[in-house]
Amino acid sequence: MLYILAKLGNARAVGCPPRAMYTSPILKEIQAITPQVAIQANNLSKEFRTGFWLNQRVYSLKDCSLCVEEGQTFGLLGPNGAGKTTLLKILLGIIRPSGGEAYILGKPLSDQTVKQHIGYLPENPYFYDYLTGLEILTLMARIFEVPAEVTRTRIPQLLEIVGLTDEAARKPLRKYSKGMLQRIGLAQALINDPSLVFLDEPMSGLDPTGRYQMRELILSLKAQGKTVFFNSHILSDVELVCDQVGILVKGELVCCGTLEQLLGTSSQYVAQVQSSSPEPLTNWLRELRGEGEQWTGILQKDPAQFIAYLESQKIRLLSLNLERKSLERLFLEKVQPRPEA
Ligand SMILES: Nc1ncnc2c1ncn2[C@@H]1O[C@H](COP(=O)(O)OP(=O)(O)O)[C@@H](O)[C@H]1O
Ligand SMILES: [Mg+2]
Repeated sequence: MLYILAKLGNARAVGCPPRAMYTSPILKEIQAITPQVAIQANNLSKEFRTGFWLNQRVYSLKDCSLCVEEGQTFGLLGPNGAGKTTLLKILLGIIRPSGGEAYILGKPLSDQTVKQHIGYLPENPYFYDYLTGLEILTLMARIFEVPAEVTRTRIPQLLEIVGLTDEAARKPLRKYSKGMLQRIGLAQALINDPSLVFLDEPMSGLDPTGRYQMRELILSLKAQGKTVFFNSHILSDVELVCDQVGILVKGELVCCGTLEQLLGTSSQYVAQVQSSSPEPLTNWLRELRGEGEQWTGILQKDPAQFIAYLESQKIRLLSLNLERKSLERLFLEKVQPRPEA
């Protein structure tokens, strides 16, 4: 059965079910319960030629494969220059890959019809300075051939969603702050009511309130069933809103999966105890650090045995918490160069 489905699917998915429209009732039923693939990238690579004679090569992306199901929120993390924007531009069809292939909503990258269903917020949105916010949204609506009556109701809704007042929307874009440009950029990305939204560093240039609103907005897009793919170097934003996370380092996707898969379900106990010296604790707790008589460390043995030991030694236990490895720790492990073996 899987073989038949794979044959019928037009997305040659690796690790993801294929996306296809089936006519047979049984296959239709299977399709209804099978998550569809929004983005499938297989071994994407990008090599830029630079220098006066174009004889220098920059490898921005190497053999990058990933799969995002419809309705998922995918966060692509990576330090500056890792290749995040390059990957996003390839998926959008703005630049061509040097190798590999990708499917967007089941269609190959060369298929232009799929663009109708895509929204895109660029890393540094650059709009016509002399247009007002309202004018740029109207222009984008016309480009997407959104009917005029829909545009009339959608623009005020979008302005409200992104937090721009009517007064701000009537100002020319050259008078906009970075945060305001980010907001109008997001509004234009949603003007065609896309089912797949690409956001390149959506939180950049926003103050803490703006970042919070952007996170809420991404969650509301997800609640509407939209697929969101966004780049970021802000770990907490990714951790809070994403179903899947990928970490890109020097053009290589070093890990990709759900937070549970990446961080593991296995957690560690962090204990805080009161003791005049660290000696009785060194065999039990690692990464021990102290302040006054309070010592904190990661438990290396069974919690029940530890509690019994503390009681026998008359050492007071202040707290014992189960903590999961943080995304920050995983990110640093992946990004920092490993010492040569
Ligand atoms: N048009 C280009 N020509 C040459 N090199 C480029 C071009 N675009 C990107 N690069 C290089 O590719 C690498 C990845 O860039 P980019 O995708 O913008 O990274 P990120 O978005 O993760 O900060 C960088 O080293 C960058 O200098
Ligand atoms: Mg970038």
